[in-house]
Amino acid sequence: MPNKFTGKKILITAGPTREYLDPVRFISNESSGKMGYAIAEAFSSLGAEVTLISGPVSISLTSCELKIVRVNTANEMYEKCIEHFDCVDIAVFAAAVADYRPLLQSDQKIKKSESVYSIELIKNIDIALEFGKKKKKEQLSIGFALETNNQLENASQKLKNKNFDIVIINSPNPGEGFGFDTNKVAILSKTGQLKNYCNKSKKEVASDIVNEIRKL
Ligand code: CTP
Repeated sequence: MPNKFTGKKILITAGPTREYLDPVRFISNESSGKMGYAIAEAFSSLGAEVTLISGPVSISLTSCELKIVRVNTANEMYEKCIEHFDCVDIAVFAAAVADYRPLLQSDQKIKKSESVYSIELIKNIDIALEFGKKKKKEQLSIGFALETNNQLENASQKLKNKNFDIVIINSPNPGEGFGFDTNKVAILSKTGQLKNYCNKSKKEVASDIVNEIRKL
């Protein structure tokens, strides 16, 4: 039976990014990519045309319909995303993109010398914010907000700043999101409606998210 997502073009970012200091060292985070991959599979099973731009993760997929583009750094992720910005129907920004990268990257392995070593960091481009600036009326943007405190206030701010239609709020508590198979989320829409969900598998959370997007 045809549904709302059949043939729709969906762009999804997932996983962490790695910001290199030298050929063997990088700054990254604990993101497993599982939430983004679960959303990608949920859309794909509904007949959508999914492109998943993925940071380095170790996940094996059950759907072979998905197009996966593998990247390492935030800049690479951005470059791959902008190729899709004009033509996607829905963009879901589930990646834990590193906010900063080392200002200088050495071609060679950095040798140890001083007992204190400082790294200067420079801000990375905000992929979701860039999409939010140029998105057309009929395009939807879905973001995540990972918050340890002032969840609702911070998430509302992100929703507004990045022009999201929906923001998924989660926290780095054990068993909730980051690195785990389960997640506990709240979904805030731009109309101000907030829905709280219980802790469930990421597959079930992905289905809740897709159902909320279906209503937009
Ligand atoms: N995001 C992005 N590109 C970035 C940073 C974030 O696309 N360079 C997206 C994330 O994928 C997520 C949303 O923006 O959908 C919010 O990310 P989050 O890490 O919660 O917040 P930040 O905007 O990075 O702000 P802060 O770290 O200060 O909370």
